[in-house]
Amino acid sequence: MCGIIGYIGKNNPTEILLEGLKALEYRGYDSSGIALKKDNNIQIVKCVGKIANLEEKLRKEELLDCNIGIAHTRWATHGDPCEENAHPHQIGKITLVHNGIIENAFSIKKRLEKEGVVFHSGTDTEVIAALINQHYHGDMQDAINKTVKEIKGSYALAILNEDENKIYAIRCESPLILGIGKDEYFVTSDIGAILKHTNKYVLLGENEIVELTKDGYTITKDKKSIKRKVEVSNLKSEDASLHGYEHFMMKEINEEPILVDNFIKKYINNINDLPDLTNYKCIHIIGCGSAYYAGMVGKYFFEEDGLKVDIDVASEYRYRNIVYDEKTLVILISQSGETADTIAAMRKAINHKVDTLAIVNVDGSTIARECTYKILIEAGREIAVATTKAFIQQVLVLSLLSYKINPDDKYLDDLKQLPQQLKVLLDKTGFYKKLADIIYKQEDVFFIGRKVDYAISMEGSLKLKEVSYIHSDAYQAGELKHGTISLINEGTIVFGIITDEEIKDKTISNLEEVISRGAVPIYVGTEESGYKNQIIVPKVHKKLQPLLVVPTLQMVAYYVAYKRGCDIDKPRNLAKSVTVE
Ligand code: F6R
Repeated sequence: MCGIIGYIGKNNPTEILLEGLKALEYRGYDSSGIALKKDNNIQIVKCVGKIANLEEKLRKEELLDCNIGIAHTRWATHGDPCEENAHPHQIGKITLVHNGIIENAFSIKKRLEKEGVVFHSGTDTEVIAALINQHYHGDMQDAINKTVKEIKGSYALAILNEDENKIYAIRCESPLILGIGKDEYFVTSDIGAILKHTNKYVLLGENEIVELTKDGYTITKDKKSIKRKVEVSNLKSEDASLHGYEHFMMKEINEEPILVDNFIKKYINNINDLPDLTNYKCIHIIGCGSAYYAGMVGKYFFEEDGLKVDIDVASEYRYRNIVYDEKTLVILISQSGETADTIAAMRKAINHKVDTLAIVNVDGSTIARECTYKILIEAGREIAVATTKAFIQQVLVLSLLSYKINPDDKYLDDLKQLPQQLKVLLDKTGFYKKLADIIYKQEDVFFIGRKVDYAISMEGSLKLKEVSYIHSDAYQAGELKHGTISLINEGTIVFGIITDEEIKDKTISNLEEVISRGAVPIYVGTEESGYKNQIIVPKVHKKLQPLLVVPTLQMVAYYVAYKRGCDIDKPRNLAKSVTVE
């Protein structure tokens, strides 16, 4: 989490840093800040909340006329999201911004306090500034090297020293790249933040120190010079405009039909470009949040194909004692390709010398780079924090991988119709608004389903709760009476996801059980039901069905959040890319 950008060059950095922060805002928006440097002066401006707040504050300040600056947008880990805890942090001559978590910050802080250091924030970051300041006796490289030997955890740092017209940067487990423009240089956690200025960048290895001046840069590790290749990104400076939509979430949901269509056209005659999962004895599917639920949908597809599938969230998988078969394929699903737990799970698999397959959106991301194979989901940039179109593309990839194992004419026929059917479903906005009317005042909502319908329920429930702040839970329909049914009250909304023919009657019975206890059902299926509230989607091949059902639940979540006046694109406490544990 958190986003970093630093600039040194011929221009004034303020606008460049602000623009960069806006592109990085998806990484967290609890607070933001900027440090500008001219000669021995360092000016820090920071504030709570979104980048727009910082922008407003900067407009009112008299700013240094300079060409060096660093900036940060924060997702709070250590310390509240208040102004004192916003980055940059300054101790003595050192000012820095940090992305990551310092696990031994507490003990170091205690020691430094005894030695007389005064801290002004509750962050772990200030400890790094204090250590560099303590170790600095005229040699920054030395001070940084000594500091990183003392700290444990993850970090990407952009550092200013009052005495030098330079930016220093270093990383370990958190992403940070060096951007190379014409007579100007950048450091940033994401190339997207600098694409307006350059597409040339250098990947930095762990604990390599980059030293940037207005005339160039050096990279060293333990004071030994390192040469690194200059890469060229083919990403475009992303169009972050709403194109008439009120929110990015709605814009992105509406991009689904065209993205699905493009992806189908690309792969349908080139299915052999996708890996063959039957080469493996066992498939592990790993992700976090929605990416995990996409994986769960995939698990049901692959099990139908006769594959042995294990699935887990990355934060558990990374610490489990996994017994790997040598013919195991680990599939890592991630929109950003930078989720810390998913990266750790991937590295665990790599250490066990099994093949890894990335299903990612962001090319050039850590997961895209380090896996044995990668499939790019080609969803374009997703700006809304809650994922929608990326989820659909992830499921589409898994569905095509399954089709490759078990080719089937019915699947192909239905696949061709899918984008148009999806478009028709999304156009029924009045219908979703009406459903939102009966949900938006609720305190608790439940989703039930079996098998793939359970995976869909999980995603539908997550979408609703994260954007509307209504408490919502999903259960395997058969589990409900083992405890949870006691929560059903007069008027409790229960979505019954009922698309799987083989198990349909069982879930209907479970829905009836909650109705007889006062629940208000919302039936989600492929055929007209007798229920008053229902979402009916066209019946298609079972390995395509989730691609029609989930978008309808995304629409409901959107309109419920809308009616509740929520900050739909940036729900509270969340960040788009979870780069800490
Ligand atoms: C929910 C959501 C998150 C992400 C999760 C994984 O709407 O967006 O649950 O799916 O944080 O992120 P990625 O896919 O970037 O690894």
